[in-house]
Amino acid sequence: MKRVTISTLDAMKAAGDKFVMITAYDATFARLVSEAGAETILVGDSLGMVLQGHDTTIPVDLEAMAYHTACVARARPHSLIVADMPFMSYSSTDDALAAGTQLMQAGAQMIKMEGGTWLSDSINQLVERGIPVCAHLGLTPQSVNVFGGYRVQGKTPKEAKSILADAVEIQDAGASLLVLECVPAHLAADISSKLDIPVIGIGAGAGTDAQVLVLHDLLGLSDVTPKFVQNFMAEADSVQDALKAFVAAVKSGDYPLEQHTYT
Ligand code: KIV
Ligand code: NA
Repeated sequence: MKRVTISTLDAMKAAGDKFVMITAYDATFARLVSEAGAETILVGDSLGMVLQGHDTTIPVDLEAMAYHTACVARARPHSLIVADMPFMSYSSTDDALAAGTQLMQAGAQMIKMEGGTWLSDSINQLVERGIPVCAHLGLTPQSVNVFGGYRVQGKTPKEAKSILADAVEIQDAGASLLVLECVPAHLAADISSKLDIPVIGIGAGAGTDAQVLVLHDLLGLSDVTPKFVQNFMAEADSVQDALKAFVAAVKSGDYPLEQHTYT
């Protein structure tokens, strides 16, 4: 299998073929995720919760992200490696360039940042200098204290309009991918159809171009799981089977279902 690039993902969107992103934080799981056929691996700052035991992603620092990105990259997965920029590492464009450099040199092939319009200049400058960007809108967990909890975003017409406007603007700024987290399915479908860049949903319904889940959630290992999570270990004989079942379910349209969706 050839290594996945952004061209692969653009072609899949154009063909209407769903693709898959799974988080991984180390070499073994990066290999398994790649072997299961997931097109992209996210070295997510969710590692703050699932590896480090924090309640939020806010304590995660750049050193930890670079360390886990390097661990994942050593597996030489076929999947495109996307690494999260941690809390406050991209609050200015200069910070974003420095943090992005560190993650790319650790082995990332794209970096992800949470936010909309305010990130336009940083996105543009990163991309111009050779760092592809995945944006992240909707429930952006680094802003949990601004939201007052992990709650669905974009439920009012005003909020929905602002998320759509942010999505268009980050695409115009040069973002290559967009993650939409915990938004109503109709809004995610609308954004996915309006944007040229692939949109990856989590708790965003079946209308996006791709799906992402946190590894520990889809393996049924997390103590609290939101309603959009399916435990793929429930009917699998091995971790490998569960990862393959998730990939297959996304591609066939068997995941996500109505029960995993906000309206
Ligand atoms: O950190 C992470 O795992 C993420 C996904 C939930 C999209 O950002
Ligand atoms: Na994240």
